[in-house]
Amino acid sequence: MPALASSPSAALDVLGVPGEINLDYAATAPCARAAADAVTELLPWYASVHRGAGALSRRCTLAYERARQTVGDFLGARADDHVVFTRNTTDALNLLARSLPAGTTVVTFAGEHHANLLPWPRGSVRLPVPADPAGAVRALAAALTELRRDSNPALPVLVAVTGASNVTGELWPVAELARVAHRHGARIVLDAAQLAPHALVDKQALDVDYLAVSGHKLYAPFGAGVLVGRADWLDAAPPYLAGGGATSHVGPATHDVAWTTGPARHEGGTPNLLGAVALAAVCAALADADRAALAAHEQALLARLRAGLAALPHVVELRTFGPDAPRVGIVSFVVAGQDSATVAARLAAEHHIGVRDGLFCAHPLARRLLDEAATRTGRRDLPSTALRASIGLGSTAAQVDRLLAALAEVA
Ligand SMILES: Cc1ncc(COP(=O)(O)O)c(C=O)c1O
Repeated sequence: MPALASSPSAALDVLGVPGEINLDYAATAPCARAAADAVTELLPWYASVHRGAGALSRRCTLAYERARQTVGDFLGARADDHVVFTRNTTDALNLLARSLPAGTTVVTFAGEHHANLLPWPRGSVRLPVPADPAGAVRALAAALTELRRDSNPALPVLVAVTGASNVTGELWPVAELARVAHRHGARIVLDAAQLAPHALVDKQALDVDYLAVSGHKLYAPFGAGVLVGRADWLDAAPPYLAGGGATSHVGPATHDVAWTTGPARHEGGTPNLLGAVALAAVCAALADADRAALAAHEQALLARLRAGLAALPHVVELRTFGPDAPRVGIVSFVVAGQDSATVAARLAAEHHIGVRDGLFCAHPLARRLLDEAATRTGRRDLPSTALRASIGLGSTAAQVDRLLAALAEVA
């Protein structure tokens, strides 16, 4: 397997195909060597998980439970939290949505990814996209004050926010939002899908109640994600997937079933062992890495990319909080007068560069930012969808420069 780009630690080298430049990490990041090695090592032992007495099966069961521990530790889980393996962040947030006690109101912002907008029940409150992080904190405080005044204070409230925007990369003030939520007796879930690949996410330090991530955005293969969080709602909820492994007793009558508690309650069926082990291997490698150095390298590349885009006459960046807001390595932009899908297709076909185009599964935010960009620049020829470039482990200045040169040609 070719390692295309090296990082300070061999375990965090990412795999790829020579000649192809991947600048679409926010959709799916390339696989880290740590993940590939962990899968290769386990494959000869491949056997059932939690279902067999043989040596292979016992080793696989141990590997799965160790992976749970490693991922939970990496994300700062509390000892009494559940760490539930899911398919991805969407799955994790849907699991939480199905576990909400009756009468729960969910409060979120219109800037969220669809995965953090659509699973929530009817009656959820969607706050407008704020102008800056302080505005988000003020808006949440006002909304929770009103909610607590107007509705039964005994009913649960859940605040659902992202750590970093998948459209702009901008960071949200998670710790402050958690403080506000808790001051009003609400819980908070962090969608860490875009934050965790770029920065340390410590659930206890941020003081969030739940946290969701996707393995495939965190340098592991597809198919494994995690919901970490407080046990009480999860243990009281109906099983997310009814079936083998989720029960403690099944009798002869149709409804004679007792569901187990703990992560297994929501992991019915044979689990994704390789996905969990691969994700844990990346978490372990990142835990050992100098994250500050990795972040500094990413920020230098991001600054180079944004400066280069700003210098291209027809390129307009999309942003929510303003040009200087802290952000991770994600930039969305448009080329005035050019259809974004056509630009993306030309970058791929003529320059072997992969970027994303569209509205990035965050339609309300992306449309709003396109309108804002038109107002800010006074241009009437901006397209109705955008382009997105995103970077991470293994990204290089040469790749950024290739994108800028290609855009200069295309534009
Ligand atoms: C902020 C954010 N949340 C959630 C998701 C959903 O992740 P997944 O598709 O892995 O479920 C994404 C995916 O792009 C995202 O960017």
